[in-house]
Amino acid sequence: MEFNKLVQDRYSCRKLKGTPIEEEKLDRILEAGLAAPTGCNYQPYKLWVLTGEENCRILSELTKYTFGAGTFIVVGADPSKAWTRKFDGLNIAVIDASIVATHIMLAIHDEGLGSTWVGSFNAPEMKKHYPEMEDYELIAIFPVGEIEEDAKPARLHFERKGISEMVTYLD
Ligand SMILES: Cc1cc2nc3c(=O)[nH]c(=O)nc-3n(C[C@H](O)[C@H](O)[C@H](O)COP(=O)(O)O)c2cc1C
Repeated sequence: MEFNKLVQDRYSCRKLKGTPIEEEKLDRILEAGLAAPTGCNYQPYKLWVLTGEENCRILSELTKYTFGAGTFIVVGADPSKAWTRKFDGLNIAVIDASIVATHIMLAIHDEGLGSTWVGSFNAPEMKKHYPEMEDYELIAIFPVGEIEEDAKPARLHFERKGISEMVTYLD
């Protein structure tokens, strides 16, 4: 999809089908994530793809935002492997992982699938279920699936501030 159309068209889809998504589509979505730039190219993140009944059950305990999906992509940032800005010590792991997550979010839409960036979930509890996530800041879960016929954007999707409020030109 043409880029401007893609970013304007995407919305948080909260009505998904639980049917498996095609492997080729999932591969392209993950490759889009891997194509993201990271500070110093350190790539301090990890992606986990969760499918299957047991994982769906666990996820529904960790968040109320599963939206009927049968596939979930979890994005984790590893601060121990990230570039740090020497001037103020800012660790950019979460920034890097957020760029990866944004690529994934847009790629999902580009594949004609639906998703929502879910940040509200019990991350500490998640690490107990999945010990391999222990060392990561878990920044996002993307429930992914085919879009239900009656899905539509929520009210907030249409409430964007305008350029005059958000952008200042300094001459
Ligand atoms: C970092 C982040 C965390 C979010 N967490 C949640 C969440 O936990 N549950 C949810 O339903 N939506 C979540 N959203 C979706 C936002 O509510 C949504 O993007 C916003 O309302 C704008 O709507 P739109 O995505 O349809 O344009 C999150 C979005 C972002 C970027």
